[in-house]
Amino acid sequence: MRATSVNTPDWATVTGVPYIGRLTSGLHRPKRAVRGSDVAGVVEAVGGQVSDLKPGDEVLGSTWLVAGAFAPYVAVPAAQLVKKPAGLTCTDAAASVMTGLAALVAMRDVAQVGAGTRVLINGASGGVGTMAVQIAKRLGAEVSGICGTARTIELVRSLGTDHVIDYTKEDFTQSRQRFDVILDNVLNHPSKATARLLAPGGVLIPNSLGYTGGLFAGLPRMARAVLMGRLGSTTVKLVSPAVNRENLNALLALLESG
Ligand SMILES: NC(=O)c1ccc[n+]([C@@H]2O[C@H](COP(=O)([O-])OP(=O)(O)OC[C@H]3O[C@@H](n4cnc5c(N)ncnc54)[C@H](OP(=O)(O)O)[C@@H]3O)[C@@H](O)[C@H]2O)c1
Repeated sequence: MRATSVNTPDWATVTGVPYIGRLTSGLHRPKRAVRGSDVAGVVEAVGGQVSDLKPGDEVLGSTWLVAGAFAPYVAVPAAQLVKKPAGLTCTDAAASVMTGLAALVAMRDVAQVGAGTRVLINGASGGVGTMAVQIAKRLGAEVSGICGTARTIELVRSLGTDHVIDYTKEDFTQSRQRFDVILDNVLNHPSKATARLLAPGGVLIPNSLGYTGGLFAGLPRMARAVLMGRLGSTTVKLVSPAVNRENLNALLALLESG
């Protein structure tokens, strides 16, 4: 391992929120002591059936929620690794995998963003948000991003966001604007209020368990969003990225292109 990154599932597991999650992750402490999914490093050894990677190759990839990357060595399925180009640092690579795959799949596959699609991203300054802004712009969208400090507003603007909404000054659910796609990485408003901003045929992508503590944290809000999609007329879709070479290479191509 040369570099890895801390994602919300790592933080949630070590802090034990939401408490209900401890039933699977461990009642008093995490069952898997070594957390971490994102991987950037150098191949030390390969299994007998692996022919396209060899010791010494620089790679990036992910154990995807199985954990174990916060360690000097990690075992990763070869199908979840791709060769890392020399021009991409291990730090940049490791910081991009979970957030990048989620953003890529959300924008390209789930929302099928194209030229002129009006996209609203709540939590635009976070790991997923900053990736989603750039990928949506690359796909030709008109992007509005919500964030809330002077530093993050500047960051989100610098990524090419067309409209930046400061959540400390404005409640975006009161906006008269309409969007074809809303990626909600925060879920700090009820999805019913957020969905009101959808244009006809629009899609809402709730993408946060709101790890704020408590027994269930944001789980009920997420469940209500899914239910709203099942029972009502709003299209609600979740992001569940496949961690495979096709997606990793697509992400790599975007990273390499800047
Ligand atoms: N589906 C998947 O496969 C997948 C993969 C990765 C992550 N996720 C989920 O995606 C979510 C975001 O992850 P992340 O890595 O991007 O987290 P992150 O880096 O911590 O970003 C969270 C963002 O939320 C923003 N925020 C906080 N309070 C806000 C408010 N009141 N209104 C609007 N924005 C607010 C923050 O913006 P400011 O800094 O401007 O306050 C921050 O940029 C998490 O819930 C995570 O579990 C899902």
